Amino acid sequence: MKLVGTLVGKSGTRYVTFRVFEEVNVNDLVLIENSKRRFLGVVRWISHVNIAKNQYSPFIVQGDEETIDALGYMNASAELLGVLDEEGRLIPRITIPPIVGSKSDIYLLEEGDEILVNVSQPVYIGVYSSSSRLFQLDASYVNYHIAVVGTTGTGKSHLVRLLAKAFSLKDIKSIIFDHTGQDYAPFFKEDSAFRVIEDREVLPSPAGIASVIANEVGNEYAEDIEISIYAYLASGGNPGETAEFFEALGLMEDYRKSKKYSLIQNRKPGKIEIAGPEEFKNIEWRNEEYLEILRYTMALLARRNTTIAKVIMRYLISGLDLAKFNGRKYTPKEVAELLVNGDKSLVLDLSNEPMAIKWSLLKDTIKFLWKKVQDKGGDRIVIVVDEAQNYASAGTPTASILEEIARRGRKFGVGLILASQRWVTDLSTGIRNNINTVFFSQLAVESDIAEISKVVATENVDLSSLDKGYFYVSGLLNPMRKPLLLHTFPTVEEVVKANAGR
Ligand SMILES: Nc1ncnc2c1ncn2[C@@H]1O[C@H](COP(=O)(O)OP(=O)(O)O)[C@@H](O)[C@H]1O
Ligand SMILES: [Mg+2]
Repeated sequence: MKLVGTLVGKSGTRYVTFRVFEEVNVNDLVLIENSKRRFLGVVRWISHVNIAKNQYSPFIVQGDEETIDALGYMNASAELLGVLDEEGRLIPRITIPPIVGSKSDIYLLEEGDEILVNVSQPVYIGVYSSSSRLFQLDASYVNYHIAVVGTTGTGKSHLVRLLAKAFSLKDIKSIIFDHTGQDYAPFFKEDSAFRVIEDREVLPSPAGIASVIANEVGNEYAEDIEISIYAYLASGGNPGETAEFFEALGLMEDYRKSKKYSLIQNRKPGKIEIAGPEEFKNIEWRNEEYLEILRYTMALLARRNTTIAKVIMRYLISGLDLAKFNGRKYTPKEVAELLVNGDKSLVLDLSNEPMAIKWSLLKDTIKFLWKKVQDKGGDRIVIVVDEAQNYASAGTPTASILEEIARRGRKFGVGLILASQRWVTDLSTGIRNNINTVFFSQLAVESDIAEISKVVATENVDLSSLDKGYFYVSGLLNPMRKPLLLHTFPTVEEVVKANAGR
């Protein structure tokens, strides 16, 4: 600790002003020592004043340059973060201001100076911006959801990697959806606490496959496609075996004449059995057979021949080949089980598949995960979605499952980490309102800060001059609650080192 100033002027329960003797910088943490109490504060503003240059003074002070400059002084304003009790523990409530008197010294906290804060599960992903002191975060609040916001290149993905690694050291597993396959998969490939799975190893749900086809042939035929996919599955990919399925739907042109009619009638009406996704894994996808079933489905749905021809043509020129779904190792359910039953975090590399499949994989995996966690309980899991504008913004097919986790996840120990450039447009209202920790850096949209302030404190921060790797942390994960500036470690190795044995 270094003596850097003394209190002057008026002090309050939120702010104090001090005269600066030694260098201090904005965002430095300072200890305010009184005869009665000790307080912790963070420097928010610094100003330089020279009474010889007082704009309101009617007098001009005469003298040489040195004399005039000697009349200058520096004042700083610190926001109070809490008061220290007898054992040196920080209590983040201040009911009496520091006394401005003979003994009211300001000390700068330096490397090695520890402040005891009540943190149930400390984790470290970086240091305070100025002093290299470790920045303590409280991992016990992960299930209250985290957002990381900043313009491109500020270091969001890097920060999220450090968080996922730090959490894994505290037995909090992550499932990371790597939108580009470049931000997580290469970094965790060699890490034994993580398992990387590629999207092309995972079989999407029938609805997911249907949506990919519908995207190609026109979404106005989404229902035809969906029925045809289920017909394909029900018949095991055999166009000659679809009658039973269509009959059960009441779709046969003249189903009374069908030889299978009695069979259906003998069963409970309308009972259609469709195998679970696990069994789909064994069904072989063949374009030719699928197209035949699609044609038949559309005919049964009374589509005109010209419409059918158009759809078939669009399918053919799209270059879609359903064979790519053959031999996939996992279903989304199995991916979820791998996470819940195993002890490793997962990275799902989504770089190979089109958006419709990415959506479908994310949605189905989280859906099964959520169900499994509610049945089993006791686990702590974070769902990481980077480039969240693609998955969490209002109107995307995945926003609703993420909203469900945002609203109810904490009860079952499931937290979200969402990273994106913009706060309002990239995250739906239902998600934003349930986020309790925000890491924010330079923003792409300046007005976002006012919106962020609706969920966590953001007063007195200056974002314009932040370099990459610098983030204000505000909300539950930060035991000091008020926004404080974090500088993330340059590497994951440092996360391992800093968290070892703590
Ligand atoms: N604290 C840091 N120290 C060193 N390099 C960093 C730090 N934070 C981020 N970087 C680097 O900055 C670049 C951009 O970071 P990235 O996380 O990809 O940004 P974003 O996801 O916000 O676009 C990357 O090369 C990353 O390794
Ligand atoms: Mg990124």
